Parts: sequence; structure tokens; C-alpha cells
Amino acid sequence: MSPTIYLLLIFSLFIPSQSHIQSTDQSFISVLISQNGLDFLKDLLVTKAISSLTPLKVPRIEKTVKIPFVGNVHFVLSNITIYQVDVPSSYVKPGDTGIAIVTSGTTCNLSMNWHYSYSTWLVPVTISDSGHASVQVEGMEIGLTLGLENQGGALKLSLMKCDCHVKDISIILEGGASWLYQGMVDAFEGKIGSAVETAITKKLKEGISKLDALLQGLPKEISVDDVASLNVTFVSDPSLSSSSIGLEINGLFTGKKRDTFPNYYHKISQPSVSCTDPSKMLGISLEEVVFNSASTLYFNAEFMQWIVDKVPDQSLLNTAGWRFIVPQLYKKYPNDDMNMNISLSSPPVVKISSHNIDATVYADLIIDVLEASDVIPVACISLEIHASGSVKISRNNLAGSVKVDDFSMSLKWSKIGNLHMYLIQPVMWTVIETVFLPYANLHLGKGFPLPIIHGFTLQDAQIMCSNSKIMVCSDVAFAESYDLRLLFVH
Ligand SMILES: *[C@@H]1O[C@H](CO)[C@@H](O)[C@H](O)[C@H]1NC(C)=O
Ligand SMILES: *[C@@H]1O[C@H](CO)[C@@H](O)[C@H](O)[C@H]1NC(C)=O
Ligand SMILES: *[C@@H]1O[C@H](CO)[C@@H](O)[C@H](O)[C@H]1NC(C)=O
Ligand SMILES: *[C@@H]1O[C@H](CO)[C@@H](O)[C@H](O)[C@H]1NC(C)=O
Repeated sequence: MSPTIYLLLIFSLFIPSQSHIQSTDQSFISVLISQNGLDFLKDLLVTKAISSLTPLKVPRIEKTVKIPFVGNVHFVLSNITIYQVDVPSSYVKPGDTGIAIVTSGTTCNLSMNWHYSYSTWLVPVTISDSGHASVQVEGMEIGLTLGLENQGGALKLSLMKCDCHVKDISIILEGGASWLYQGMVDAFEGKIGSAVETAITKKLKEGISKLDALLQGLPKEISVDDVASLNVTFVSDPSLSSSSIGLEINGLFTGKKRDTFPNYYHKISQPSVSCTDPSKMLGISLEEVVFNSASTLYFNAEFMQWIVDKVPDQSLLNTAGWRFIVPQLYKKYPNDDMNMNISLSSPPVVKISSHNIDATVYADLIIDVLEASDVIPVACISLEIHASGSVKISRNNLAGSVKVDDFSMSLKWSKIGNLHMYLIQPVMWTVIETVFLPYANLHLGKGFPLPIIHGFTLQDAQIMCSNSKIMVCSDVAFAESYDLRLLFVH
């Protein structure tokens, strides 16, 4: 071989064959399905799908067979039904060419009616008989290769290869003459085998295309609440390694009202999901940006602005309660009710590190005096609150809570002269602890849904934080009430 051709051949190995699917969209949530996860899905498919193949009708078989001493006999096998399929062992293996699922030692049982007729020159009438037979198919192997790719942001599942191979058949006839038995076996063994192969292959094709429809029908957004959805569009082709499947999804919060301009985020860390416990079925990695997209969205939706007119210590909302803290306030507006108008001045900033989740919140707190029907803003205090968060799994949601570590404050403006910040500090602390924190935790406690397909629930989830991302490593369970069989039966 000439050196040039040799070089060309080597280079061609490095040219990605699927370059047209390369996407520039960034992904902020990555999902890794481990070998254990794949085994779980495969078992679900095999038990629910392959066993729900039955009862499966196989087309009737007819044949004229020359039987020694009898002559030409016309046989009909009808009402052929596969009524049981057993799959003792199977495995799943992803690879470059797709996801292979292979079952071995599969057996299936069939029932059928047989009928024959013939005429000889000896007797001028047609002789016929009929009966029942049962057939056992042993050592059947079924091999599927599934392709999984991104098609317009959804997953497309295709059946790339489907082999069904019958090794051995035993036929048990009920009734009939003894010559019939050998004739039947000789004539029909192969035909029954290939009829079973064809019927099962056809049924599996239908099943896979329904599964594909299910995958393609998955929503591209998961609703979080009235304001936000999580964009769960797939942004690249699944990456298949020898023992896992990796999925990359957009993962940002988007507004339900499309009047907000999208924010452009950049990913800091490399897409990788690595669970410390590799036996977990599923790993979901969420970039810091996911949380900041939520923060920006709710900020823009003016969710982060509220009037405080009730506090546990209601005396704080009357100027009388402030008599000793801000004497000039009480003097100017004696015994007037007050409220506080808190608004965040920018979206809270979330930072994730291996030992902490920090949030910094910048807020303005306006003190309003309510006099008759007037709302009179008298002072504004800027707050910078440092909170640390923790996250937990609640059903399929990632939920959280925060506690305040410290805060600093400064007077932004005042219509009542200077305020002594050290005197106001305890009041602000009370407001933060009794108003701000419970409000924040009420919302964070609900959390937002992780991208899990309906019917599956997380189990024994572990959460780990690392530099700029949160990782959820978990097993999953399948709710039996969600009937996957519906996919495979008509
Ligand atoms: C066809 O087979 C099914 C299942 O084995 C059986 O219930 C049914 O009675 C059979 N029908 C006829 C016409 O033999
Ligand atoms: C089905 O066939 C297997 C062998 O292939 C046999 O062991 C089993 O008893 C049969 N089941 C029924 C219900 O006939
Ligand atoms: C969702 O993500 C996809 C892929 O990144 C993107 O093309 C699409 O515009 C996003 N949808 C919204 C509503 O932001
Ligand atoms: C609360 O303060 C903001 C400015 O920080 C202002 O725009 C808003 O109108 C105030 N709300 C009420 C009800 O006073």
C-alpha cells in the first residue's frame, strides 16, 4: 500500500462519521445511565415487553407432503398461538454501533390445530383427520441492536438489527396416526421455526417503534410552577460507552411567558457525571448555571419583591415599636402602622463548591409609614445577605433550604435623618429570620423536578457537590401502576 493511501486511511479514522449532528447548544444538565441502570431498564423491557408478546398469533401453514405408502397428504396447521415466552437470561451492552440487547435460552410454547386430508386410488373418498398439537421451542436467541440519536431535541430510538433464531423444536401431537407424527415433524419443523422467528421479530419491531414514539413524545419542557419550566431539550447525540449512556440536556429555567429575553450562559466545568458509588443506576449532574438561570428568571418575573405587613412580633410594624430605635420616626408619625417593602436589587448569585452552596442576596428594604390612606416611604436600607444552602431529594424533585450566615446593611436614603445602624441591626435580623427565610424556604422546599421519565422514581439518592456543580446519584424504581405493557399490546 502506498504511504499516501495509508495516511489517508489513518486520517479518515479521525473524521467523525456523524459530524452533521454536532450541536453548538450547550448543556447544563447531564445524565448518565450506568450499566446497572441499563440492566434495570433492560429487565423492565424484557419482562414487560417480551413476555407481553403473548398470546401471539402465527399465520397458518399449509403444505402437501409425500408420505411413503400413503401418498400426497395435504396438511394444514391453523390457529397457531404462541402463548408463553420465557426469557431466562439476557444482557444489554452499549457500544459504538448501538445498544445491543441479547436474550439467550429463550423458550416458547405454542398451541395449534392440525388437519390433514388425502385420497388414494384404493378408496374413492377423501380421508381426513384433525387434532390438537403443542409445540415447544427451545434455545431461541433474540438479539436486538437499538440506535439512539438526537432528532430535533428529542431522542430517536430505532431498531437497527433484529435477529430471532430458533434452535430446537419439539412437537407433541394429541391424537393422529403414528405415520403422521414423523411426517409432521419432517415437514413443519423448519416452517414452524421460521414462522415463530418472523412473528416475534415483527412484534418486536412494533414494540420498538411504540417505544420510540413514547421517547419522541416526551415533553421538551417540564413545568416547575406558574412562572417557570425546565428546558429538557436534548442538545446532542447520546454518548454510548461500553458500560453507560450519557445524555446532555439544556437544563436551563425558562419563563412560561415568552416575553423575557433568554440569558446566555456559559458552562464552567466539563460535562462529566462521576458517582462515587458506581453501582448507582443514574447520575444527574446540574451546573451552577441551572440555579442561576432560575434565580434570574424569578427575579425578572418580579417574584422577588414583596410587602411585609405581618410579622411574628407585630409591634415592629408600628412606629411605637421603633420609639427607642428611631425616635424621630415615632415623633413624626406617632403610633402609625408601618410596612416594609422588600425587593431584591439583582438576582441572587449561587456558587457551588465541594463543601458549600452559597447564595448572595442583595435587597433593598423600604420602610413605609401608613398614614390614613397614604403610604409614605421614609427610609431605605440596602442589605447584602450571605446564605448557605443545602439540597435534598424530595420525590423526584431537587429541593433545598437556606440559612443566613451573616448580612451587612447600609442606609440608602432617609427622609427622617440619620439612622443608627447598630440599633436597627437586631430588627433587620428579626425580619430576615422571621420573614425572608421562611418565605425563601417555602419556595425552595418544593424544589424543581429533575428530568426523570414519568413512571420512574428516584430511590436512595445521594447528593454531592463539587466545584460549580451538584450531582445526584441514585437508583430508580418503576411504578407498577404505570403500565408499560400498554406499549406492546394493541
Ligand atoms: C385457538 O387457540 C386458542 C388458544 O390456544 C383456543 O383458546 C381456541 O379455542 C382455538 N380455536 C379453535 C377454533 O380451535
Ligand atoms: C413450555 O415449554 C417448556 C419447555 O420449553 C416447558 O418446560 C413448560 O412446561 C411449558 N409450559 C407450558 C405451560 O406448557
Ligand atoms: C431549550 O433548549 C434548546 C436547546 O438548547 C434551545 O434550542 C431552545 O431554544 C430552548 N428553549 C427555550 C424556550 O429557551
Ligand atoms: C416597593 O418598592 C419598589 C422600589 O424598590 C417600588 O417600585 C414599588 O412600587 C414598591 N411597592 C409598593 C407596594 O409600595
